[in-house]
Amino acid sequence: MAFNLFDTIQNELIVDSDARTVTVIPQLSAKDYSQVKTLLNRMGGEWNVRNQNFDFKKCPQVLIDRVLSVGSRRLNQFHFYPTPEEVFEYFKKHTPLKYFGAAREFVRTLEPSCGEGSLIRQLLKFGEEEGRKFIVEGYDIDPLNVIFCQESGLNVTQADFLKVTPRKEIDLIVCNPPFNKYEFIKHLKHAQKFLKSDGLLISVVPTKWISEHVDHEDRHWLFEQAQIESSDDLDSGNFYEPGTFKGVNIPTAIICLSSEEAAERILTGKRYKAEAIDSFRLYVECCSETWHKLHAMKMDESINADAVIKKIQDIVTNILRKQDNETVHLVHRFYDSYVLDIVEEWFPQYIYKLVPPSIPHQLDMMDLFGIPATTDSQIAA
Ligand SMILES: C[S@@+](CC[C@H](N)C(=O)[O-])C[C@H]1O[C@@H](n2cnc3c(N)ncnc32)[C@H](O)[C@@H]1O
Repeated sequence: MAFNLFDTIQNELIVDSDARTVTVIPQLSAKDYSQVKTLLNRMGGEWNVRNQNFDFKKCPQVLIDRVLSVGSRRLNQFHFYPTPEEVFEYFKKHTPLKYFGAAREFVRTLEPSCGEGSLIRQLLKFGEEEGRKFIVEGYDIDPLNVIFCQESGLNVTQADFLKVTPRKEIDLIVCNPPFNKYEFIKHLKHAQKFLKSDGLLISVVPTKWISEHVDHEDRHWLFEQAQIESSDDLDSGNFYEPGTFKGVNIPTAIICLSSEEAAERILTGKRYKAEAIDSFRLYVECCSETWHKLHAMKMDESINADAVIKKIQDIVTNILRKQDNETVHLVHRFYDSYVLDIVEEWFPQYIYKLVPPSIPHQLDMMDLFGIPATTDSQIAA
């Protein structure tokens, strides 16, 4: 009979769920065996030379049932890629984790999509070494991961984290969410809602969104939030090489976010806005493409005020859409101010289109004839 991978997986393995081992019964050709082996490896099975079987960390029967129901391609449907030690080393050395919570009795910590608990374990070990107490609660959508964590004594609940109701009770969030295009930003946004006002979130993120040049609300949000604490971390020289995470080939970075309140306090501060506009002005001056567009408009005598404003709005939209490592410091919420800044600088005669003219100062006839104005106290008398 011709070899069929799924028949073999279903009917021709000895699966010992207690010992967490799988033995392949039939004698297969090298080519067919290699397919079975690849699939068992993808499920997390490791070849044990001494026992001549595959050892699993998780219950192999559940994994096999999953492959049979969803197919091997969707085996990793929840995007499980555990955080390796070298990434946590960065957390320890280059983020505020190196001192965070040192003066507290304990640090209430959340891991929103904890997988097999790799980050949690590394954090707890760090806490032991440092004499700091991290009280960690975790979530994961995949029941297999949750059972695995619970069996080793971690406080982990099975849930879709995006549906967990936020409580602002958390000091520290460490995470490496499922990336899945912009899905990871939804996880970060939701996680931030759990932070106390002085809390901190440290996350692994993919870096592709930085250079993607699209107008996406979540992307703008992350640019704003990440640059408060982490603008340098979004420089391409600081990324982790593709391959840092086993089984995935994309560059990643570590970023830190503050709580919603702290971020909002900074982003709405006058000084911050002034700096953001200065950065924008500098960018426009140095960007020859923008400069040439503005210069051409200035030379064009046929163009009217409305057309000028519209073109400038398009220029700003484009700059913000293209936002990447170069312009990481630009903030989408200041769009109107950026437009105004260009109009003020290049077309001051059209500023009235954006800022309503102030009510003209009423000429006082008394002033005109040099008669001193009557004071309030004189009127009262
Ligand atoms: C990239 S792995 C990281 C695992 C873990 N954070 C670590 O650092 O080792 C992403 C994890 O997110 C989990 N996950 C995916 N979607 C989720 C959701 N909506 N809610 C909770 N966990 C989710 C996956 O099961 C997977 O374990």
